[in-house]
Amino acid sequence: MKGIFVGTKPTPYKVIIGARALTQVGSLIAKTAPDVQKVLIVSDSNVAPLYLEKVKKGIEISKMEVCEYVFEAGEKSKNIDSIAAMWGVMAENKFTRTDAVVALGGGVVTDMGGFAAATFLRGIKVFQVPTSLLAMVDAAIGGKTGIDLKEGKNLAGAFWQPTMVIEDTDCLKTLPDELFTEGFGEIIKHAFIMDTELYDLLREIADEGKVDKIREDDALLEKIVSMNVSDKVSVITEDTLDNGLRQTLNYGHTVGHVIERNSNFSLAHGVCVAKGMGIMIDSCEAAGTLPSEEASKMRDLIKAYGLPVSDDITAKEAFDGVLNDKKKRGDNISVILVNKIGHAEIKKMTAEEFESFIGKGKAL
Ligand code: GLY
Repeated sequence: MKGIFVGTKPTPYKVIIGARALTQVGSLIAKTAPDVQKVLIVSDSNVAPLYLEKVKKGIEISKMEVCEYVFEAGEKSKNIDSIAAMWGVMAENKFTRTDAVVALGGGVVTDMGGFAAATFLRGIKVFQVPTSLLAMVDAAIGGKTGIDLKEGKNLAGAFWQPTMVIEDTDCLKTLPDELFTEGFGEIIKHAFIMDTELYDLLREIADEGKVDKIREDDALLEKIVSMNVSDKVSVITEDTLDNGLRQTLNYGHTVGHVIERNSNFSLAHGVCVAKGMGIMIDSCEAAGTLPSEEASKMRDLIKAYGLPVSDDITAKEAFDGVLNDKKKRGDNISVILVNKIGHAEIKKMTAEEFESFIGKGKAL
């Protein structure tokens, strides 16, 4: 089992990564936060039948009382009604400031469990226990919590750092194929924006025709997850509140979020990020800042992991979508560009400049 230190202020924490980590959730809570007496496990209808009992037993053995809240899996549940229901369970069971939430599931669960913890009694502890690849490498780390509004994704929320993140790589073995694949949307993003070593590893796996075999190799799985956790940790340690460097993690997301919302959340987040990255690659190539050879390498890697590089979204639809984007500051949006693998740039554009930039990529 591996531990990666996250030096966020004022509360640093650890990300624990390894096979069978789920069996240790109870003992890790007892060790890290001995004052916790009650735990609310938040999970969804896909993950709860697989892992909730196991985690619950481990916490009870460690002498804590356990309540649970399980919601219907999917982005449609990511709303204030679900959060209010979680507050209700904690209030009925007389949770105090020293108690905790355990968020057991994918990104929707970790975002919502974190938000319920951030807001109940003005903030109680949350232990993030991501079970999907996407949540392990991205959503569960860095303290972004929240819900969707009908106007857009993640529009209400809070920064609330977990007390610990516990990642059991065995969960990835039973993950449906499409959920495993979508995780590579965020993994490839990390390679493109900041990590040439990760790019080389992903390229090598693809060149050897071993993409379908990753899950059979425990050591490789742990290595890929750990490299991505380290990438994300280095960014959020430097810019916890998303005022600068952290914005580079949004590569592919500005358009990706619009595509996701326009699909009424029928397309997975990681798939939409891949499409968003594909559109940014086209736009940078059309703008003449990304050499065609580099652009081809980037598209090839995304495709090698079974993800798409295009979408029929128009530049006008992208423009309308970004007007609601929470990354918009004043009249400008921060657009993340990659013109060289391993390096991201932040460019301020007006929504009109963004529409024209995307339009030229679409015409490529
Ligand atoms: N998922 C992007 C971030 O945590 O900032």
